Amino acid sequence: MALQDKDRIFTNLYGYQSWSLDAARARGDWDNTKALLERGQDAIIQEIKDSGLRGRGGAGFPTGMKWSFMPKESRDGRPSFLVINADESEPGSCKDREIIRHDPHKLIEGALVAGFAMRARAAYIYIRGEYIREAETLQAAVNEAYAAGLVGKNASGSGYDFDVFVHRGAGAYICGEETAMIESIEGKKGQPRLKPPFPAGAGLYGCPTTVNNVESIAVAPTILRRGASWFSSFGRENNKGTKLFQISGHVNKPCVVEEEMSIPFSELIEKHCGGIRGGKDNLLAVIPGGSSVPLVPAEQIWDAPMDFDGLRAVGSGLGTAAVIVMDKSTDIVRAISRLSYFYKHESCGQCTPCREGTGWMWRVMERLREGDASVDEIDMLWNVTKQVEGHTICALGDAAAWPIQGLIRHFRPEIERRIAEKGAMREAAE
Ligand code: NAI
Ligand code: SF4
Repeated sequence: MALQDKDRIFTNLYGYQSWSLDAARARGDWDNTKALLERGQDAIIQEIKDSGLRGRGGAGFPTGMKWSFMPKESRDGRPSFLVINADESEPGSCKDREIIRHDPHKLIEGALVAGFAMRARAAYIYIRGEYIREAETLQAAVNEAYAAGLVGKNASGSGYDFDVFVHRGAGAYICGEETAMIESIEGKKGQPRLKPPFPAGAGLYGCPTTVNNVESIAVAPTILRRGASWFSSFGRENNKGTKLFQISGHVNKPCVVEEEMSIPFSELIEKHCGGIRGGKDNLLAVIPGGSSVPLVPAEQIWDAPMDFDGLRAVGSGLGTAAVIVMDKSTDIVRAISRLSYFYKHESCGQCTPCREGTGWMWRVMERLREGDASVDEIDMLWNVTKQVEGHTICALGDAAAWPIQGLIRHFRPEIERRIAEKGAMREAAE
């Protein structure tokens, strides 16, 4: 099941070699990119569709299908744009950072082939403000690509003009939401727009736009070179390809690693992370896809395939594949309460259920953490999460509700224990 070195796309993930253009070329990047483009827009999109690639930013929308939503003809002379989401802010996620640090040319070449396929005139790479060194590396790599004629006028000798801009964010999590990102690039406050219209209809400056995650774009040139059937030979139906997993928390060796989609959780942890700290029996729970997905208790995650369907089957999701491992030393109520605070802090405040609900949920979570609540409030909190979920403009509302739902679903006895303990202390003091 585990991936062999020859099948890894990100061959410089750990930065053992230079990120520079010369080193990237020696690794096979920018190798006759013109020939890739000469296949034509429709053929490129079809190859990506056939590969089964699904968006790597969290939602898993089929990438080739998304590209096909872009218009083939310009309407009213309007250009089309590609926006690359490098605003990696999901707690636990750090894979795009590694691509930009050590393999930026994979991303820039991917921007050209993807942008060409969807008939975009330019790509905007929106990088989170905290990635200061990474933004410098990325800009230097873009400069190299311009100097070598790989992007810009007559990009890679293809006759196609294509610009690449690096745009730095200012530290707001919500700017990772695609329409908030578009607003932010336009110079406005980063607040999500209502969808539809989706960006392919009306995106950046009102023009057709596709927003893709860094990893989704960076794998595209390799898929075109090695073929859709090669990529889709990894994983299983509906969950194809290789994937970057980011494993943090209570493992012996936290890491970012490229593995085959659908690898069982146990194999991922044993093979790449040296196992759970204190051994398998010390595992309490795992958040398998970044903080926006519900936690999964130890007994349900151990054999689960790490893919979209496998994690949905245990009530969670693949998300960004940011695997947060928590052993039995974790105060699980405190951990989820801290996540609640994060969502309260990052809510853009535009819609009432999220603006009011995230603060309300966090305050109740804090009282549950202290044991300073009544058992009825657990059900009330559950009901409030259901009022927030699905009733907001963007997915932040859901993301705030789901971790709490996961906690109540799997760790209700622990919450009740705290309430009982605090009650007993209070009685003893009276
Ligand atoms: P979404 O499901 O609304 O959309 C996914 C993509 O598909 C979007 O680009 C959207 O425009 C497109 N799409 C969906 N339906 C469409 C339709 N009918 N027609 C045309 N296009 C359509 O999900 P969203 O809000 O973009 O992303 C949520 C996910 O982002 C969460 O699952 C979370 O895991 C992840 N996330 C990742 C972060 C990171 O740091 N990488 C940060 C926060 C969240
Ligand atoms: Fe803003 Fe929250 Fe509404 Fe999203 S759900 S638009 S973050 S208030």
